[in-house]
Amino acid sequence: MLSRQVVDQVLALAAAVAEADREYPLNEDARFALTSNDAGVEHRFERGGTDDLLGYAQGNRRHGTAQLLVHPEHRRQGIGTRLLHDLGPLPVWAFGDLDAAHHFATANHLVEKRRLLIMQRPLDPPVELDDPDIRPFDPASDTEAFLVLNAEAFAWHPEQAHFSRNDLDTRLGDDWYDPAGFLVSTDAEGLTGFHWTKRHPDGRGEVYILATGPRAQGQGLGRRLLAAGLNHLAEQGCTTVHLYVEAANTRAVELYDRAGFAVVHSDVLYGPPPEPSQEP
Ligand SMILES: CC(C)(COP(=O)(O)OP(=O)(O)OC[C@H]1O[C@@H](n2cnc3c(N)ncnc32)[C@H](O)[C@@H]1OP(=O)(O)O)[C@@H](O)C(=O)NCCC(=O)NCCS
Repeated sequence: MLSRQVVDQVLALAAAVAEADREYPLNEDARFALTSNDAGVEHRFERGGTDDLLGYAQGNRRHGTAQLLVHPEHRRQGIGTRLLHDLGPLPVWAFGDLDAAHHFATANHLVEKRRLLIMQRPLDPPVELDDPDIRPFDPASDTEAFLVLNAEAFAWHPEQAHFSRNDLDTRLGDDWYDPAGFLVSTDAEGLTGFHWTKRHPDGRGEVYILATGPRAQGQGLGRRLLAAGLNHLAEQGCTTVHLYVEAANTRAVELYDRAGFAVVHSDVLYGPPPEPSQEP
């Protein structure tokens, strides 16, 4: 595990990068991993003469991705390239798809592998909603069914498919967790879907995870769960709501598009080009 001093150095570096780029360079998972004991996480550091932290890279073997940042005053000195090679051939996230990251990826012969969109919309004032199939998540009785349904619904998803009991427990214990904002839908056989919302400290709402299980798909349940969660966020005083969605997940993008969301931001995963034998 990293010492508190090193964690603080990484967070200070990330803050300097965020101020210069107007984009925070580490996502929630990477920030959690700074203080966790996850054996699948590797850290690489580039230090200056006075031991200042000039660059940091984090590789996550479980997700098969990396995150990488270089202090704004020490760029174009080969630090990013050294950290990238030091981590080995892991695809790397570029949050905001900024020009520097795009050029850096091209210079290192990396190509776009995934594109994650942020979609956003204003929230309507809350209304009286009463959907008898939708109720708050109950950790005592819903945990197992939630983990099964999440794994089924996100079987194709590189990160969400691996959402574990530990991931769930961590988030249930987090400051932002609101039991009334984690909604599940049920039928006679059990859980059919869920919509976990998140209210950020600055008052913005988020569709944190929305999914319907295979037996309930294509019946308008996603739309109902979405509406119920948005209504809850509006009741909490949120005036905007955003969400993350894979650009390749066209069904979800269409659901959000029809519900009035628009793309406001893109994160790109850059990785090695396919081997010649993998090309069509
Ligand atoms: C992207 C980032 C990591 C690059 O780090 P760096 O230490 O400046 O990169 P390097 O010095 O190794 O650059 C290697 C090559 O990438 C290209 N490059 C990097 N930044 C560039 C820029 N701003 N404009 C044009 N080309 C750029 C150049 O070809 C460069 O070689 P050169 O300087 O000899 O021309 C850094 O800008 C950063 O921390 N950005 C914010 C976090 C981020 O976006 N991370 C994701 C990276 S995919």
